[in-house]
Amino acid sequence: MPLNYAKITGTGSSAPEKILSNFDFEEIVDTSDEWIRSRTGIEKRHIAGPEIATSDMAYEAARMAIEAAGVDPLEIDGIFLATVTPDYFFPCTACIIQGKLGAKNSFGFDLSAGCSGFVYGLQLAKGMIETGDANHILVVGAETMSRIMDFEDRATCVLFGDGAGAAVVSKADSPGIMSLYLGSDGDKWELLHMPAGGSRIPPTQDSVAKRLHYIKMKGNDVFKEAVKAMESASLKAIKKADLNTAEIDIFIPHQANQRIMEAVRKRLDIPTEKVYVNVNKYGNTSSASVPIALDEAVRDGSIKSGDLVLFSVFGAGFTWGAGIVRF
Ligand code: ACO
Repeated sequence: MPLNYAKITGTGSSAPEKILSNFDFEEIVDTSDEWIRSRTGIEKRHIAGPEIATSDMAYEAARMAIEAAGVDPLEIDGIFLATVTPDYFFPCTACIIQGKLGAKNSFGFDLSAGCSGFVYGLQLAKGMIETGDANHILVVGAETMSRIMDFEDRATCVLFGDGAGAAVVSKADSPGIMSLYLGSDGDKWELLHMPAGGSRIPPTQDSVAKRLHYIKMKGNDVFKEAVKAMESASLKAIKKADLNTAEIDIFIPHQANQRIMEAVRKRLDIPTEKVYVNVNKYGNTSSASVPIALDEAVRDGSIKSGDLVLFSVFGAGFTWGAGIVRF
């Protein structure tokens, strides 16, 4: 038995005002609203203007989550920011958020686990709270994907969007985060990656000319891996929590693609009405996808007190995970 229980006590989310619709993309690359909608379920996505970076959206989402949790920023013990698009390589963007929030008693760091990062962060928060090392941890997923989208590659640029979601995880008397399961497979990293900008291929005029600072993805392969991993992680998290799939009240899959979500839903045999979907409005916001959907579902009343929520994620690495949370 853990010393303490960990519970999500507040959520928040933020996305830039500017929206690009599928019709806007018809003017940018050789695509159509019909193609994007039928293959992905995406209708539009938020895109940050040049003045906005990841920490700006993350700060907004974090501020809302802290307010919803009813805690003072000074009570936050740690900030974990999941992102693949930090403001800078260093310092970590979590520290920039810590400064903006005035969370002076908190430490912070960024974690890179692709689209799965938020659930990885929840695992760390749960561990620290259960052992008594922290009372309140802020977990944020935030991305400015538009900075690494290749607006000349129609196979990827239509898929992603910008935004941030956050949750405060706090010490509680009863179980909140009931189970988490994480996995990864480093043999397949090349199927989804950004080749240049790191120590393997530092930025040069040549790397920029070859468009190596953008997302490269083998969409078909990623699709198949995502379905398999999200199904199996979900089943493992359900089993770990000693529950049945039928007991889940709401399923929040990673909002990458409507067809991936539908395939996972079918395999898990979860009714359509229990699946929360907002990929149509946001596109794939990577690590921000689940916390944005979670915050929307809490605020629009889709998640009620006492509900059991299942998350399931998949991302670059490959990484994947799932979790069950009682609200
Ligand atoms: N508009 C029009 N045509 C397009 C577009 C586009 N935007 N993109 C690709 N096509 C074309 C291709 O060029 C190809 O044409 P061809 O047959 O003449 O060569 C045709 O459409 C079919 O291409 P496929 O890649 O086979 O299309 P598919 O049905 O697999 O759909 C998609 C592509 C949507 C990317 C799909 O593979 C997918 O969703 N994959 C998962 C991607 C994903 O969600 N990744 C993120 C998950 S992990 C994470 O979140 C980081």
